[in-house]
Amino acid sequence: MLTLKGHLFSAFYIFSLAFLSRASPARRQTTTLKAAAGSRYFGAALAAGHLSNASDPDFALFAQEQFSGATPENEMKWDATEPSEGVFTFSQGDQVASFAVSNNMLLRGHTLVWHSQLPAWVSTLTGDDLLNAMNNHITTVMTHFQGQTFAWDVVNEAFNDDGTLGTSPFLTQLGSGYIETAFTTARAADPTAKLYINDFNTEGINAKSDALLETVQSLKASNLIDGVGFQSHFIVGEVPQDLQQNLQRFADAGVDVAITELDIRMTVPASEANLQQQATDYAFVINACQAVSRCVGITTWGIPDIYSWVPGTFPGQGAALLFDDNYNEKPAFSSTIDALSN
Ligand SMILES: *[C@@H]1O[C@H](CO)[C@@H](O)[C@H](O)[C@H]1NC(C)=O
Repeated sequence: MLTLKGHLFSAFYIFSLAFLSRASPARRQTTTLKAAAGSRYFGAALAAGHLSNASDPDFALFAQEQFSGATPENEMKWDATEPSEGVFTFSQGDQVASFAVSNNMLLRGHTLVWHSQLPAWVSTLTGDDLLNAMNNHITTVMTHFQGQTFAWDVVNEAFNDDGTLGTSPFLTQLGSGYIETAFTTARAADPTAKLYINDFNTEGINAKSDALLETVQSLKASNLIDGVGFQSHFIVGEVPQDLQQNLQRFADAGVDVAITELDIRMTVPASEANLQQQATDYAFVINACQAVSRCVGITTWGIPDIYSWVPGTFPGQGAALLFDDNYNEKPAFSSTIDALSN
C-alpha cells in the first residue's frame, strides 16, 4: 500500500516520464526572449499555415511563449491581399493578426509596395491606372488592419546595391516620386500607424544605405516616415561590423530603427564551429540594437529552422534561426538571451 509520500512520488514520476518522453523540444533556459528583451519587442515572422497546423502545435506554443512581436510572413503581401484588381482577401492576414493581438504581440504590417510577390495584373497597368491601383491598395489594406498593426512596411526593397532605385512597375510608370506618394497615401490611410521603409544590404554603411538615408531624411522632412527596417538576412561570420554605427546614423535622422527579418545562415548540415559563430553573431546584432535607444525591436524571420525560407532560396544553406528543426534551443538562443539580459 502506498503512503501519501509514495503517491506523490508516483505522480511526480509519471509526470516526469510524460514530460521526458516528449521528443521535443528541450527547454533549458528559465527565461524567454520576450521577457529578456524588456522594453523592446522580440518578434518572429508567423505564417498562418504554421499557426493553424494541428500536426505541429509547438509553432503556436513557441510563438506565444517566446515572442512579443509578429510579422505575417506572406499573408499581407500584395499577391495575398489583392490577387485580382479590387478583389481583397484578408482571411490569412486576419488569422495572423488576431493571433498576434490576442497574445499581446506588436504586429508589423508587411508590406504594401514591393516589386516582388506582386500579382501580374499590377504590372500591366500604366500611368494613372497604376497610381490609382497603388493608392487603393495601400488605403484598403491599411484601413482593414487599422488598430491591429502598430507599424507598416510601406515600401520594401526599393534600392539596388549601388544606391540607384531598383526596377519595378512603380518606378517605371510613376517615376522616383512613387515612394513619397506611397508614404503620403499611407499616412492618410492610417494616421496611427508607424510608417517604415524596409530593405536588405543596408545594415552596414555602404552606397545602398547612403541612398536609403537620403530618402529617409527627405521623407522625414515632410513628416511622412517614422522608422526604418533593416532586414538583416545575414551569413554566419559576415555581420557588418558597423551595424550599430549605421543604425545610429538613421536614428539621428529622427526615426525609429528595427531589425525586421533577422536570420543568420550557414552551410548545412551545420558544424559545431558555425553554430558557435552564429551565437556570437546573434549576440552582436542584439547588442547593436540595444546600444541605439531608437532601436525599438528585433524580429527573427521564423521560429524553427525547418520552416525557414533560407534552404529554398539559398540551396545548401540553412540553420539560420534560434531553434533547430525540433524546436530545441540552439547556442544562438542562449547567446541572444544573454545579450538581451545585459
Ligand atoms: C505541419 O506539421 C507537420 C508535422 O510537424 C509538418 O511536417 C508540416 O510541414 C507542417 N505544415 C505546415 C504548413 O506547417
